Amino acid sequence: MKVLVVGGGAREHAIARALKRSGAKIYSVMKNRNPGIYRISEEAVIVDEKEISSVVSWAKGRVDMAFIGPEAPLEVGLADALQDAGIPSVGPVKSAARIETSKEYMRSLMERHGIEGTVKYRVAENMEEGKSAIEEIGDFVIKPTGLTGGKGAKVFGEHLKDEGEALDYLRRIFEGYGGGKAVIEERLKGEEFTLQAFVDGSNLVPMPLVQDHKRAYEGDKGPNTGGMGSYSMENHRLPFVKESDYEHALRIMKKVVRAMETDGNPYKGILYGQFMLTAQGPKIIEFNARFGDPEAMNVLSLLETPLTEISEAIADGELSGAEFMRKATVCKYVVPEGYGVQSKANVPVEVDEEAIKREGAELFYASVNDDKGQIYTTSSRTLAVLGIDDDIEKAEEMAERALSHVKGDVFSRHDIGKKELIEKRIRHMEKLRGNANRRN
Ligand code: AMP
Ligand code: GLY
Repeated sequence: MKVLVVGGGAREHAIARALKRSGAKIYSVMKNRNPGIYRISEEAVIVDEKEISSVVSWAKGRVDMAFIGPEAPLEVGLADALQDAGIPSVGPVKSAARIETSKEYMRSLMERHGIEGTVKYRVAENMEEGKSAIEEIGDFVIKPTGLTGGKGAKVFGEHLKDEGEALDYLRRIFEGYGGGKAVIEERLKGEEFTLQAFVDGSNLVPMPLVQDHKRAYEGDKGPNTGGMGSYSMENHRLPFVKESDYEHALRIMKKVVRAMETDGNPYKGILYGQFMLTAQGPKIIEFNARFGDPEAMNVLSLLETPLTEISEAIADGELSGAEFMRKATVCKYVVPEGYGVQSKANVPVEVDEEAIKREGAELFYASVNDDKGQIYTTSSRTLAVLGIDDDIEKAEEMAERALSHVKGDVFSRHDIGKKELIEKRIRHMEKLRGNANRRN
């Protein structure tokens, strides 16, 4: 099978590798020259992934199907255009991708279909509406309704220190940032987790749970980022998520898929649920219409069923299951110095690929440029390493050993996957649940 892989990040490197492992020939389009993807491709072209007509004309006659990695091409209708050209995609058509690209669509879909796990919210288009929404919601979060690369949500009391800052942020949104409209929603307290699933329009097949780390610095400090690293456990759950919480989260995802099918807007692709586990159970923070980055690395490294088989089943609406290894994974990103504030771009990074391989770890290139074998940073994340082993402790140690083979003006979060941080999450959930029980 010949597969077009769209996107040039670490997530797409993981997708391309999983497809290749299952026997596919890879044809890739990306806007930067990712050396990892480049090397395993039969052919590759450097083009902006949102340039639909260039992508489709290049793909026509070359591939049997497409796997779309990032959200930006989904938002502009790449899956629709490929479909018109007779190429099925893993990735939803534009109207279904709104589950991610419009937070207004997502919240209203859940509300209209009476799906649990949503929050109180208001949509505002001007300062007057914004102010009254803030007053009504009380303890709130402000986000643009559109895409912002995971950096648009600002929490009152954290990113927004007082009402003045909240109003300034609303003004910036109404001037056009993230689509010009704001969602003001209830602030949730708890622990976040990610549930990703394969979806074929009606059937949903879940993947192991993963926890990402959004904040740039150790101890969950600093600005929000695209994600600094993530881990998953050998039992495919997380230590602070009860089985009943997991089942509840899965039910919410299935109801969303059914609601979209009922509305005549079926969802085909990877559905990513970002949940906040609160004392009242799991609540949706957002949906993504694609794999998470870094979460793709965790689950695809565990996937035993050929990804080509799953992709065909998604296209044909015949999805039945997927097997994952019973191992733990820890993924850690390496990012340029200053990332999250002002990245040091165009600096060389030394990567000892052979040494990383000898540790048993995996290496995924992200937003780098490769010039005659020398890797240079861009302003985004540089590369990710992944440790995989029978338990989380061993997987974390493997990831750390892999990191020691990367040198340059870069940094990582060494606390991800370590016992101290995981125990802190468990204690946090116990405290929230304890407080809730005392109140009842
Ligand atoms: P989003 O852009 O919606 O993925 O949000 C990015 C991050 O902001 C999330 O991962 C959370 O850490 C935080 N966040 C978003 N919405 C909420 C909410 N309703 N309550 C608390 N934190 C939130
Ligand atoms: N890891 C968060 C995201 O992919 O949006």
